Amino acid sequence: MAVGIFDSGLGGLTVLEAVSKRLPDVPFVYFGDNAHAPYGVRDAEDVYQLTTSAVARMWEEGCDLVILACNTASAAALRRMQESWVPTNKRVLGVFVPLIEAMTERQWGDNSPPREVAVQHVALFATPATVSSRAFQRELAFRAIGVDVEAQACGGVVDAIEDGDLILAEALVRSHVDALKRKMPHPEAAILGCTHYPLMEEIFADALGPEVKVYSQANLVAESLADYLGRHPKMVGEGQNSVFLTTGNPRVVSNRATQFLRRKIEFVSA
Ligand code: DGL
Repeated sequence: MAVGIFDSGLGGLTVLEAVSKRLPDVPFVYFGDNAHAPYGVRDAEDVYQLTTSAVARMWEEGCDLVILACNTASAAALRRMQESWVPTNKRVLGVFVPLIEAMTERQWGDNSPPREVAVQHVALFATPATVSSRAFQRELAFRAIGVDVEAQACGGVVDAIEDGDLILAEALVRSHVDALKRKMPHPEAAILGCTHYPLMEEIFADALGPEVKVYSQANLVAESLADYLGRHPKMVGEGQNSVFLTTGNPRVVSNRATQFLRRKIEFVSA
């Protein structure tokens, strides 16, 4: 039994860490498409082709359920995959619905009509592809009314994190927060809409100030997955082993992952 966790690179490790803690008995197959990261500057067709080929590889590894721990793939490819690509005995789930449900104070799967919620001014930080898809705003509009979302496309941050250049990543985060604040001076909440960004969460929180509540996905996705597997125990697939797959250089990717998670992580070639 194994559940797949997919990302364009290292960002999905923030989700992997949370789901492994929440579900310690479930083996996870992690796939980082590091050779093709970042996805955030690619077009939707490209993201769809890369994501489907990675997920097909995860089926081979014994996964029946794959979480796209990548907002860019969730925004650009998930709906098309679910409509016409995923076999009937498999499931692919994305990462923004749990986050939006938490922000709009909903229980999992509450599909009641949209209503007014406590937060009205929300800052969204995400990749250029996620921002231009407007997928967050679409999902939010199904659940809440009267919420003003200001989105900031955070160009360069994923590349800097993938390259291990955290000084550059910090400078970019601070300049993206400044740019956002020029458009929306007093957000009440900030969404880190890219799974790479929790690696810089302290910098986002510091630059935004203590009055802004920062929502990041890892723990919300872990709760949501635990709930889903409680209701669909058979979706834990047939794979028996946890494994870390990458399309990049396994040695370089293992070193970066070990540095980020502060425990030994060993990737092998996908
Ligand atoms: N971590 C991913 C996301 O959540 C992908 C970032 C990228 O590859 O640009 O959007």
